Amino acid sequence: MEIPKNRLLPDTAQINSLGHLEIGGVDVVDLAKRYGTPIYLYDETTLRNRMREFVSSLKETYPKSKVLYAGKAFLIKKMTRILAEEGLGLDVVSGGEIYIAKESNFPMENVYFHGNNKTIEELKFALEVGVRNIVVDNLDELKLLVSLVKRRPINILFRLTPGVDPHTHSYISTGKIDSKFGFQLNSKDLETAVELVKTDTFLNFKGLHCHIGSQIFDTKFFRISAEIMAEQVVTFTKKWNLPVEELDMGGGLGIAYKPSDDPPTPKEMAVSVADPIGEVCNREGIELPTLILEPGRYIVGNAGVTVYTVGTIKEIPEIRKYVSVDGGMADNPRPMLYQAEYTAFLANKMNKIPVETVTIAGRFCESGDILIDKAVLPTVENGDVLVISATGAYNYSMSSNYNMCPRPIVIGVRDGKDEVWVEREKYSDLVRLQR
Ligand code: LLP
Repeated sequence: MEIPKNRLLPDTAQINSLGHLEIGGVDVVDLAKRYGTPIYLYDETTLRNRMREFVSSLKETYPKSKVLYAGKAFLIKKMTRILAEEGLGLDVVSGGEIYIAKESNFPMENVYFHGNNKTIEELKFALEVGVRNIVVDNLDELKLLVSLVKRRPINILFRLTPGVDPHTHSYISTGKIDSKFGFQLNSKDLETAVELVKTDTFLNFKGLHCHIGSQIFDTKFFRISAEIMAEQVVTFTKKWNLPVEELDMGGGLGIAYKPSDDPPTPKEMAVSVADPIGEVCNREGIELPTLILEPGRYIVGNAGVTVYTVGTIKEIPEIRKYVSVDGGMADNPRPMLYQAEYTAFLANKMNKIPVETVTIAGRFCESGDILIDKAVLPTVENGDVLVISATGAYNYSMSSNYNMCPRPIVIGVRDGKDEVWVEREKYSDLVRLQR
C-alpha cells in the first residue's frame, strides 16, 4: 500500500520500519493495541497546517479578511484551544457549541452565531456569555432579537439565499430559491428587515452572509455566488444606505476522500470569491468589506482517520467478501446519508501489495451499514488494524449511540506523543441520564 500524494491521509503519515502506518510520529498499530478500537485519531500538525494554509491563502489574496472555523465539522474543547492559538474565529450553530467555546475560554468576540431556528434560550445564552455577532436568518428571528437586545448593542449580519446550487453542477437561479436558510433576495421580508434594523438602536448592521453548500469541487460556484453577493453589497450600501463592513461567503471547500480526488486549494477558493468582490466594489467606488470565509471540512477532514479492528470475514463465492469492523454507521453515518465514498488502509500491512477487493461492513444491525463498497487491500485477516482516512469532519460530530454502542475515544497525536482528547464512552455513560 502507498501513502497517496493528494493529502488524503494526514501530512505526517508515513510507513515505519515495521511496515506499519505511522501518524504524528506514532505507530497506529501500537496505538490500537494500547487504547483498543475504534479510535478517532487526529493529527494536530495537519490541523494547524490546514488552518495556517487557509488563513494565509486568504490574506495573500484579500488582506482585509478573517477565517472562521465551522464548528459543526468537529468541535471539542481541544479544537477551540488550537483555533484560538492559530487566530481563527468560530462559527457556531447551537447553544451547545457556544457552551464548548465558553468552557475553553475561547474569545467570544470572535464567535458568529448561525442557524435558521435559534431558540429564545439559545439567543439569550449567546448574549449572556458575550457572543456579539449574530447571523440573522429570517424576519422572525430579527423581531425576536429586537425584543431581546435592550442594553448592549450587538452586530448582525443577514444571511441571504443567492440561488446557486453547487450540487447539481448547474446554475439554476430558481433551484436553490427553495432553501430553508436565509432571506430570499429582493423579498418583502428582506425589505422589512432592512427597515427594522435601521430604526433599532441596539442592532448594529454589520454585513451579509451566504453559504451555498459543502464538498464543492468546482470553484465557479463560489465565483457565481460572490458576483451575486457583491451586487447585494451595492444594493445595501447605495439603495438602503447600510454600508456592508463584513461579507461572509461561508464554507464549502471540498477535500479528498479517495486517492483520485483532486479538490481545489484554499487559494483557488479565495481567488474565486475575492475577484468579483474587488471588481464590483471598484466599479461602484465602494469601500471593500472585510471578507470572511468559514471552512469546516477543509480544516479537519484529512487531519482525522478512524482506526478499527477487523473482526469476522464472510465470503460469498463469486459475489463478494464482507470484512466486518468494530465500528460503522454510528461513528460514520456519511456513507449511508450521502453515499460518501472512503478509502481504507491496513495499518499493519502497509508494505504489502493490495491483492483483493472487499466490502468493509460495519457492526451495526442494518444491512445498509456498509462503510466502503469496494476497498482494494492486501489479504485481510481477522485482527488486522484497518484505517479509514479523511474521517475528521462530520464523523465524530454526527456520531450516535445506535445499538447502544459507546462512542469511540478521540486521540490526538503530535511529535511522537499521543494524548486523549475525548475519553471512550463507557456502558455506564449509556444510562447516565436515565431515571
Ligand atoms: N458555514 C455554514 C453556514 C454552513 O452551513 C457550513 C456547513 C459551513 C460553513 C462549513 O461547510 P464546510 O466547509 O464544512 O463544507 N454533514 C454534511 C455537511 C453539512 C454541512 C453543513 N453546513 C457532511 O457530512 O457532508
